[in-house]
Amino acid sequence: MSFTNVLARLARVAGLMMVVLAVAPAIAGDINAGKTKATVCAACHGADGNGGADPSWPKLAGQHENYLIAQLTAFKTGTRQNPLMAGMAAGLSKKEIEDLAAYFSSLTLRAGAAKSEDLAKKGEHVYRGGNAKTGVSACMSCHGPSGHGVPPRFPKISGQNASYTEGQLLAFKSSKRASDGEIMTRIAFRMSEGEIKAVSEYMAGLH
Ligand code: HEC
Ligand code: HEC
Repeated sequence: MSFTNVLARLARVAGLMMVVLAVAPAIAGDINAGKTKATVCAACHGADGNGGADPSWPKLAGQHENYLIAQLTAFKTGTRQNPLMAGMAAGLSKKEIEDLAAYFSSLTLRAGAAKSEDLAKKGEHVYRGGNAKTGVSACMSCHGPSGHGVPPRFPKISGQNASYTEGQLLAFKSSKRASDGEIMTRIAFRMSEGEIKAVSEYMAGLH
């Protein structure tokens, strides 16, 4: 291949990359503005975003920006209901939500650890293989082998407090949390409470 051919090829690849970059959704969140705004969040989510005194309050550190924006917007509009978060999100503007999401997403998640090895082993089966008998999909297929998720659609679920995860899976199961358009409600509906407890325990130590 001649040198000009190589150049032409490179130019085409660069052109393609520009198109891809232009198509990727631009998020304009300002990390520093988010940090200033986040002092009120620290009481429950921790100063470093790794959770507070109550394990049913989630860690936010390292979560995907788009997912945080979607959840804060859902609390604000009431499609996801929680009395503590409704009050927190009600007064936030679109820009403030984007800044807060950029900030929490930039922090480093500190993974937890499973407290019961037995339970975590059972949970690992569900996480990696689902339950063919009852039609539960493997969690790994959307949330990834290490639970890091796939932005923008599938959130990070690794290293999270087990009691928060368990609470959310029960809320999906009963359709109390249905802001995602049914993907998780359908999966959790087929899970037993024992499977929910086990997979939550396993995910706490996954990272
Ligand atoms: C008084 C305690 C409290 C404060 C203060 C608080 N939160 Fe929350 N937050 C919660 C609780 C509890 C949940 C779990 C809600 C549920 O169970 O659905 C939550 C959930 C969230 C979620 C969803 C996380 C996920 O993984 O889906 C986000 C995002 C969030 N909070 C952001 C914030 C931000 C940003 C602030 C500050 C502006 C804030 N929170 C302040 C208690 C609080
Ligand atoms: C088909 C894809 C898919 C599969 C399979 C899947 N999930 Fe999800 N999961 C999602 C999506 C999408 C969301 C975001 C829901 C929303 O926006 O409210 C989610 C959200 C969650 C959340 C909420 C995270 C948070 O921070 O609040 C948990 C917990 C969860 N999934 C656990 C599981 C478990 C456990 C399994 C396996 C039994 C599983 N998921 C299988 C797509 C999937």
